Amino acid sequence: MTTLASERVAELLTQLHRDAEASDREHLEAMVETFGAQDASMETLIVEMMAEERADYRAIYHRYADNYLAVTPTYGRFLYAMARACKASRIVEFGTSMGISTIYLAAALRDNGGGRLIGSEFEPGKVARARGNLEAAGLGDLVEIREGDARETLKDVGGDVDLLLVDGAFSLYLTVLKLVEPHLRPGAVVLGENAFDPDYLDYIRAPANGYLAQTLPLDEGRGNVFAVRVA
Ligand SMILES: C[S@@+](CC[C@H](N)C(=O)[O-])C[C@H]1O[C@@H](n2cnc3c(N)ncnc32)[C@H](O)[C@@H]1O
Repeated sequence: MTTLASERVAELLTQLHRDAEASDREHLEAMVETFGAQDASMETLIVEMMAEERADYRAIYHRYADNYLAVTPTYGRFLYAMARACKASRIVEFGTSMGISTIYLAAALRDNGGGRLIGSEFEPGKVARARGNLEAAGLGDLVEIREGDARETLKDVGGDVDLLLVDGAFSLYLTVLKLVEPHLRPGAVVLGENAFDPDYLDYIRAPANGYLAQTLPLDEGRGNVFAVRVA
């Protein structure tokens, strides 16, 4: 029996995904409407979203202080599997929100024999809820959620990193990758959820930068990019 399949974690995740779907439905519908109303390509929409974000990403995400913006159950199980496969003992997460993805990753740490997950979130209310959810899952002892801007809070990750999940402000993916990069061990996994930023994609796909990257056929349209540190 894995920690993920335990009654305590499985029931909590079912409840959290249900809450997330309800809380994010309006947000997703508004996005689809914007997409349809502007009659723009996905690429154009993303460029516009990124420009808006770059101007003031803090304000943009503050609007979503009550939204989960969480990974799907399918992607969550993939996170668990990846962390098990690379025998992760140190995981860094950019963008914790209410801690759904964090629960999947911390469950993998537990089943790997222990370790540390360093999360990051700048909305204080979300930090409190994520901590509560991790405690409810019985995984709080493995997780440190750092409150504040990840550009500051992830400067020192305390050792070699086995897995990095980038799932915060779209326009900061490359910034955060470069921050953590010196600590990625050879073979470390870098997972980008909503990895749409052309600068991030160009960087991680260029063999000279020491990664082998592939787009994942999971939750298509959500920009799921997998990379392994090969340098
Ligand atoms: C897509 S959500 C993360 C969802 C989460 N990984 C999950 O699946 O449950 C992105 C989160 O990143 C946070 N965020 C965005 N930019 C950040 C930054 N620079 N520093 C800290 N948190 C940030 C937002 O407040 C938001 O809650």
